[in-house]
Amino acid sequence: MKKIHENVYELTHPLVQHKITILRNRHTGTNEFRKIVEELGMLMGYEALSDLPMQEIEVETPIESCKSPALSGRKLAVVPILRAGLGMVPGVLALTPSAKVGHIGMYRDEETHEPHEYFCKLPSPIEERLILVTDPMLATGGSAVDAVSQIKKHGGKHIKFLAIIAAPEGVKKLHEAHPDVEIYIGHIDRGLNERAYICPGLGDAGDRIFGTK
Ligand code: PRP
Ligand code: URA
Repeated sequence: MKKIHENVYELTHPLVQHKITILRNRHTGTNEFRKIVEELGMLMGYEALSDLPMQEIEVETPIESCKSPALSGRKLAVVPILRAGLGMVPGVLALTPSAKVGHIGMYRDEETHEPHEYFCKLPSPIEERLILVTDPMLATGGSAVDAVSQIKKHGGKHIKFLAIIAAPEGVKKLHEAHPDVEIYIGHIDRGLNERAYICPGLGDAGDRIFGTK
């Protein structure tokens, strides 16, 4: 994992990069695309949770008793930005099965590229939880900034953002609006085109995961 600057990390693991290459391929079908987005949810969640608090507990092995580290019971929430963020959720939950799941519905206006929120339901008490927001694409950053603002409005304090591919513009916008949020990105691409799609990117993540359009 490479630290880009304070609170911004790009994943460098060969498995992550290989899987992103499969996602980029226009010939990768819905079934495989969905499976790999889920796997990346797990690999990215694994990295993002590397600082979870631990405590030593007593455990009896078949040989003897010893002290051994265990998670200290931090409450977690996974919050996908609908729709595409949903694809990463099963991967994160495979690591943290007792995490609660919230949902934030956002869509980008196709003309203005401005985000619009249509749904928000978060688990309580949200202020005590470590919140992992998932969205495969961080493009202009508008959806991410609004989603994080909404979570904070509901009381969320400890937030990490996981995106598979980002444009530099989106990373900058999210980091400037919410410098306290740790941002984990699978790969930072070249930039945005005139339709605010990430280049080279992977196209429309929601459509590719759900087989729409
Ligand atoms: C996509 C993507 C992000 C957003 C990124 O969602 O999943 O949420 O665009 O763009 P931004 O950084 O410029 O805001 P979209 O609006 O296409 O909705 P969908 O997931 O329902 O397809
Ligand atoms: N949303 C996507 O799904 N893809 C992009 O490239 C930009 C926004």
